[in-house]
Amino acid sequence: MTRGRMITLEGVDGAGKSTHLEWLAEQLQALGHTVVVTREPGGTALGEALRELLLNQAMHAETEALLMFAARREHVAQVIEPALLRGAWVLCDRFSDASFAYQGAARGVEAGKLDILEHWVHPHIRPDLTLLFDLGAAKAKARLEGVRELDKFERQDTAFFEAVRQGYRARVNADPGRFLVIDGSLSIDQIRAQLTLIIAAFNSDR
Ligand code: TYD
Repeated sequence: MTRGRMITLEGVDGAGKSTHLEWLAEQLQALGHTVVVTREPGGTALGEALRELLLNQAMHAETEALLMFAARREHVAQVIEPALLRGAWVLCDRFSDASFAYQGAARGVEAGKLDILEHWVHPHIRPDLTLLFDLGAAKAKARLEGVRELDKFERQDTAFFEAVRQGYRARVNADPGRFLVIDGSLSIDQIRAQLTLIIAAFNSDR
């Protein structure tokens, strides 16, 4: 059995990644893949319980990092690794890059500590492709206004959003071959057109 592939979606809150997740899953299925759609923090019963705390409860930045990675450990063990081993494609709404951007760049947890957690929690898993939805902090924040009740991260100020964005950019610079950056200010149709090309290229590149 050929190991499956893992695609992650990342970006500041409001950049649009969640808008494209289900559509992307359908496109991959249409290409004949079994697709597991999942998210972080979450993806397991324990992970979803931790998500509830992480998105609503104030806590020390390092506690937050540890809980993000604790949820991830469970997710990797229960969902991601088994899916990849049975040949499924995993489409994950956020993964470790989010911890480097949010807990690291925006909340100040040392990157070296996050590197240790990443190596501990998923030494053998690295997304094959990460789609980064990039959007300026002011625009991203404006999109979130009035949509629904905002969580702890979504309520942060523009400087926090900008720090997250810069954190993601640093991840791209450190591992450019893994990322494709999508301009989140484009229309849904324009982004879909880009994603169609990206998936076609990724699908045939093996
Ligand atoms: P998000 O993925 O934006 O979900 P929704 O679209 O339902 O709001 O919400 C998850 C939040 O968790 C987001 O604000 C970023 C944050 N987060 C971290 O801070 N660190 C992490 O490692 C992960 C996975 C998420």
